[in-house]
Amino acid sequence: MIISVTGTPGVGKTTLSKLLAKRLGYEYVSIKEFAVEKGIGTKVGNELEIDVKKLAEAMSREFRGKNVIIDGHLSHFVPADLVIVLRAHPRLIAERLKERGYPEEKLAENIEAEFVDVVLVEAIGENENVLEIDTSGKEPKEVLDEVLSLIHAGIRRRVGVVDWSSSYEEILPYLRVRA
Ligand SMILES: Nc1ncnc2c1ncn2[C@@H]1O[C@H](COP(=O)(O)OP(=O)(O)OP(=O)(O)O)[C@@H](O)[C@H]1O
Ligand SMILES: [Mg+2]
Repeated sequence: MIISVTGTPGVGKTTLSKLLAKRLGYEYVSIKEFAVEKGIGTKVGNELEIDVKKLAEAMSREFRGKNVIIDGHLSHFVPADLVIVLRAHPRLIAERLKERGYPEEKLAENIEAEFVDVVLVEAIGENENVLEIDTSGKEPKEVLDEVLSLIHAGIRRRVGVVDWSSSYEEILPYLRVRA
C-alpha cells in the first residue's frame, strides 16, 4: 500500500512518516530526496522546484505495488492508496516556522495556507481516500496511534475535523505582511 503524508510546512509530516514507516514496516521515502535523486527538481535559489507531473509519474513507476510512506507537502499529488493530511493550529505552524527563521512573507504564506485548508482541499480533489488528522496539542506518538487506529478500523475517508476560522483575529498580525 502507498500511503502519502502531506500538510503545510512544519506540520509534522516527517516526524509522523518515519514513525509510521517503522511501525508498519514500510519503506520511508522523502519526496525531496527522491526528486533530487531522479533529477526532477530544479534549484531555484535555496528551494527545489519540483515538476509535479514528472514526480507523480516517476513515483508511480517506482513504487506501484510496494509498501511505502511518501513524505512531503506535494505527496497528495502522487497516486496513493491513502492520503494522510496533517493539520495543526496556524499558531503552531507560525511558532515552528519562526523558529526555523522563515522570512515574514513565507511565514505568512504558510500560515494562510493552513488557515484556509489549502492542502486538504487539494488532497480531496486528488484522492477519495483522505484521512485528516488534527495534531494540535498531541504528541507524535498520539498522532501515530490515531492514524493507526483509523487504518486498522478500515476507515479510508475522514475529513472536516478542523476549522481555524475562529482564530482569524489571532493570526491576522501574521497575515498583514501580505499586502
Ligand atoms: N505532534 C507533534 N507535536 C509537537 N511537535 C511536533 C509534532 N510533530 C512534529 N513536531 C515538531 O515540529 C517540527 C516540524 O516537524 P517535521 O519536521 O516533522 O514537519 P514537516 O511537516 O516534515 O516539515 P517540512 O514541511 O518542512 O518538511 C519539528 O521540530 C518536530 O519535532
Ligand atoms: Mg519534513
